[in-house]
Amino acid sequence: METKDSFNNSAQTPPAPLRLTARFSRPGDEQIVRDFYHTFKHEFVEERDHAVLDKYTQDNRIILFFDRDNASLCASSIALSHNLNAPAKGPVKKSTWTEIGATRIALKGFNLSPFMVSAQIMHEMFKRPPAQFFFADIYKKNTTASGILSQVIGWHFFEPEDDLWDASELRHEDGLLDWLRCTTQTLPQQARLLLKTIDKPSITNRTTGQVANIDLSEMTWLRGKRAALENIANGTVSTILLDPAANQNVGWAATQFPKRAAPQKAGPAPQP
Ligand SMILES: CC(C)(COP(=O)(O)OP(=O)(O)OC[C@H]1O[C@@H](n2cnc3c(N)ncnc32)[C@H](O)[C@@H]1OP(=O)(O)O)[C@@H](O)C(=O)NCCC(=O)NCCS
Repeated sequence: METKDSFNNSAQTPPAPLRLTARFSRPGDEQIVRDFYHTFKHEFVEERDHAVLDKYTQDNRIILFFDRDNASLCASSIALSHNLNAPAKGPVKKSTWTEIGATRIALKGFNLSPFMVSAQIMHEMFKRPPAQFFFADIYKKNTTASGILSQVIGWHFFEPEDDLWDASELRHEDGLLDWLRCTTQTLPQQARLLLKTIDKPSITNRTTGQVANIDLSEMTWLRGKRAALENIANGTVSTILLDPAANQNVGWAATQFPKRAAPQKAGPAPQP
C-alpha cells in the first residue's frame, strides 16, 4: 500500500522546504477554522454550520496543519460523532460511530492524508473510541479520496445500515456516495502509518520535489505512546486485532490496547 511519492525530475531545482506544524485544534482556533473552510470550499466537502465547526474546534477534534512561514492553515479534517437515537438520548460522551469528514488539504502532491487520517484515528482511539467503527462517506466521483482511503490507508468499502444513514442525516440517495470504514482490522495499519511519519517527519512532493518538514512537537498526546503504537502496529495487540475471529468494533479494540503503567505511588516519607 504505497503511493508514488518520489520526485524524479532532476532538471528542476525544487522550491525551498516547507515548514509545517501539525496539531489538534483548541479553543481560540474557531475563526481560522471557519476562514479555512470558507477560503478552500470544495465540491466534495460538505459545508458545516459555524456552530458545529466551533464545537469541534473547542473539543480538540480537528487536525490542523499550519504553514509556519506565513502562519496560515493549509489542511484540516474533523472527527465527528454520530449516535444511535441521538435526539432522544441527548449528547452522549461515547459515540456509536465517528466520521472522519471535511478533509481538505490545500497543498497538492504531498500525499498528506495517510498521516493525517491515521493521526486522527489513533487520537480518537486513545481519547474517545466510538463503539462501532470510523467511517467516511465520499462522493462516488471522488475516486482520488476513496482510492487513497482504500489502497493506502487501508479502509474497506461497506454498505451502511439504515441506523447509520439516519444518524448521519445524509441524503439517502442511491448511487451518490461510497462508504468506507476503519474497523478493528484496519487499526494496525493506522498505527504503522503514524509511526512512519513520527520516525521521518518529512515528505517530498512527488511533482515539484519540494520537501515538507512536519513539526510534531505540539502533538502532546503522542508523548509516552511509542511502545503502545508499536504494539498496535506490529506486536501482540496487532495479532489480536487482526485475528479473523476478532470483534469488529473499535470500542472493543480499545480495550485491547496496552495500558499505561500505573504511576508509582509515593512511599512513606523517609524517617530521619
Ligand atoms: C483528497 C485529498 C484530501 C488528498 O490529499 P493528499 O493525501 O495530500 O493527496 P495529494 O494531493 O498528494 O494527491 C492527490 C492525488 O493522489 C493521487 N493518488 C495517490 N494515491 C492514490 C491512490 N491509491 N488511488 C487514487 N489516487 C491516488 C491521485 O491521483 C491524485 O492525483 P492528482 O494530483 O492527479 O489529483 C485532497 O486532494 C483534497 O483535499 N481534495 C479535495 C477535498 C476532498 O476530496 N476531500 C475528501 C472527502 S471529505
